[in-house]
Amino acid sequence: MQTFPYTLVFLAALLTSAVVHAAPQSLRRDRVTTLSPSELSGLAPFTQFARAAYCPSDKVQGWNCGEACDAVPGFNLTLTGGDGNEIQLFYVGYWPDQKTVVVAHEGTDPTELMSDLTDVNIVTEKPDATLFPGLPDDITVHSGFADEHKKTAGTILTEVQNLLSANNAKSVTLVGHSLGGALAELDSLFMVLNLPGDISVQAVTYGTPRVGNGAWAAFFDSKVPNFKRVNNEKDIVPIVPGRFLGFAHPHGEIHIVSPGDAVSCPGDDDADDDQCTIKTVPNIADGDVLDHLGPYEGIYIGTLFCDS
Ligand SMILES: *[C@@H]1O[C@H](CO)[C@@H](O)[C@H](O)[C@H]1NC(C)=O
Repeated sequence: MQTFPYTLVFLAALLTSAVVHAAPQSLRRDRVTTLSPSELSGLAPFTQFARAAYCPSDKVQGWNCGEACDAVPGFNLTLTGGDGNEIQLFYVGYWPDQKTVVVAHEGTDPTELMSDLTDVNIVTEKPDATLFPGLPDDITVHSGFADEHKKTAGTILTEVQNLLSANNAKSVTLVGHSLGGALAELDSLFMVLNLPGDISVQAVTYGTPRVGNGAWAAFFDSKVPNFKRVNNEKDIVPIVPGRFLGFAHPHGEIHIVSPGDAVSCPGDDDADDDQCTIKTVPNIADGDVLDHLGPYEGIYIGTLFCDS
C-alpha cells in the first residue's frame, strides 16, 4: 500500500498546469487518426449497452429498458446483479448479431467519483493473484476499483463461461462508463487471464478514470489489444487519478473532440496530441464534469438517462 501526501499532489498539479498553459495551441492531426462516420456510428451499440447498465435490474431483465435496450434488438440478457449501492449494477447476456457475450457495468455519480479519485490519500494495491494469475510483480491498481471488481468477478466469469459454451461462441465484450469503465478495464484483463486462449476479448469504455500504474497499462496493452476507451470533449474523469501519482491509461483512447468529430489517439496516455484528452483537459479546472455524461454521439449515459 502506498499513500501520497497532500502537498506533493498540490505542487505537482500546479506544475502540470503551468507547463501545459505555456504550450501553443495548434490544430495538427499528423499523429492522431480521425474516425470515419461509420467508425463513429459503429460505437453506438456499445454506448447503448453502457447506458443500459444504469437501468434498474427489473427493467433490463427481459431487455425492456426503453431506448437503450431497443437500440440493440435481440440481445438475450441472462444475469443481472448488484444493488446500485454497495455493489454496482451489472448484467451479462448474449448478443446474437455479433456472436459475443456482453458484460456491462454500471458507473457512479461523477461528483462522488471525482472526490474519491482526487482524495489526498489514494491507496493502491497489487491485484489479487487468484483472480489475476501470472501478473508482473510491479503492477499496482487503485484499491477501490480492485475491491469493487472482486465482489462480482467470480459470478460474472461463471456466467460468461456458461454463455460461451451454450452459444458455441468465442468472443466476450466488456462495456462500462465511469467507475463502470474502470471495472470493465479490470474485467477485460481478468477474462483474458481466466478464459481459454481461443476466446477473444474486446472492450469499449466511456469516461474511464485511470485504473493502475504504468506497469498495469503496459501489461494490459500486451494482453487486450482490442480495447477502446472513449472520452467526451472536456470530461475531467479521464485525467484522474493524476499521472504524477504514477497512474497511467492503457492504449485505445478515442477522443470525441466535438459532436461528429472524434480522433483515435496513438500510444497509451497520449500527452503529445492537441486533440487528445491530456492536452484538451490539462487539469480539472480546464474541464467540465458535465461532459462526463455525454452526449457520446447523441447518447447520454448516467443514472438520469436510462430511457430518456
Ligand atoms: C437465452 O439464453 C438462454 C441461456 O443460454 C437460453 O436458454 C435461451 O433459449 C435464450 N433465449 C433466446 C430467445 O435465445
